[in-house]
Amino acid sequence: MTYQASPQHSSPDSQTESLDQQLLETITVQDRQYQKYSIDHRISFVPVDEEEAERLEIQHRVFQRVFDDRLIFPPVSRPRRVLDCGYGAGSWAVEAAERYPYCEVTGVDISPHMNPDDMPDNLWLQVDDLNRSFTFDSNWFDLVHSRLLATGLNRSRWQSYFQDIRRVLKPGGWVQVVEIYFNVQSDNGSITEEHGLRQWSARFMRSLEDTKDLRVGTRLKALMMGAGLVDVDARMIPLPLSAWSGDPRMREIGMANRENVKRLFSALAYYPLTQRQRMPQEEFQALVTEAAHEADNPRIKAYFPVYVCIGRKP
Ligand SMILES: C[S@@+](CC[C@H](N)C(=O)[O-])C[C@H]1O[C@@H](n2cnc3c(N)ncnc32)[C@H](O)[C@@H]1O
Repeated sequence: MTYQASPQHSSPDSQTESLDQQLLETITVQDRQYQKYSIDHRISFVPVDEEEAERLEIQHRVFQRVFDDRLIFPPVSRPRRVLDCGYGAGSWAVEAAERYPYCEVTGVDISPHMNPDDMPDNLWLQVDDLNRSFTFDSNWFDLVHSRLLATGLNRSRWQSYFQDIRRVLKPGGWVQVVEIYFNVQSDNGSITEEHGLRQWSARFMRSLEDTKDLRVGTRLKALMMGAGLVDVDARMIPLPLSAWSGDPRMREIGMANRENVKRLFSALAYYPLTQRQRMPQEEFQALVTEAAHEADNPRIKAYFPVYVCIGRKP
């Protein structure tokens, strides 16, 4: 079932219903708000409050620097219909709608809580669980964009997710996926198993491994090819955690990412570690403080690998 998340617009999807009350309910844990439906159904364990919306906006600005202000990477010059899977605070979807005013942009997210206040007329937001099959018509979109869904899509869903994406793309249409691999790296070998950064990564990844695949970034190419997409191109881009790089562009990206990283350690891992894994509060606080401190250490040169993958429907 699809619910309309933006009542000021009429939706292009006739199957849309008004937003169900149970999807709006939130719970508060340690001053952060989570969507109750998502927690109860083990969909996403990330907050959906103002603070998270702010972090997503900061993170979007960082990505725009990384991607040299490009929103769309494949050769799609005049998109007419675009789907944004897991739109979050709407940063990408709003910008895409503004940049392509003749394009109908549809966003789908399980949570409507971080919806943007100002909506372009050509943007429609819907609430739905992307773990379930798409209800969109076949051969409909010129581009499907999917960014940072690893903490929300079930491990077992990825294969059929790409099959669904292929189905709803027009022949010749493109998919563009971006995923961060949360296992912090350093190329100078300075991160050991004892470091807070490595501990944070290992524990965070372990805390969700029963249901999510946080390594999915490394599998995007195989998944796209398995779904019959062609011209698949996958890249890894290092995303510095702070301003340690000697290269001015990367240093600026690292500087901008600092604020995101500081918030991210706690936002992503708090619920999984303290509520699912029962890590004591003080231990969690000590871990994120240590990880944030190390992330800022220019000698460690820490980065997250970001995987970017595009593919075309033949
Ligand atoms: C990390 S945020 C990324 C938001 C946006 N794509 C961006 O890059 O700024 C992930 C978003 O995906 C949504 N999400 C996670 N799992 C989902 C699912 N199974 N179905 C629909 N939305 C989901 C979350 O509610 C959240 O808004």
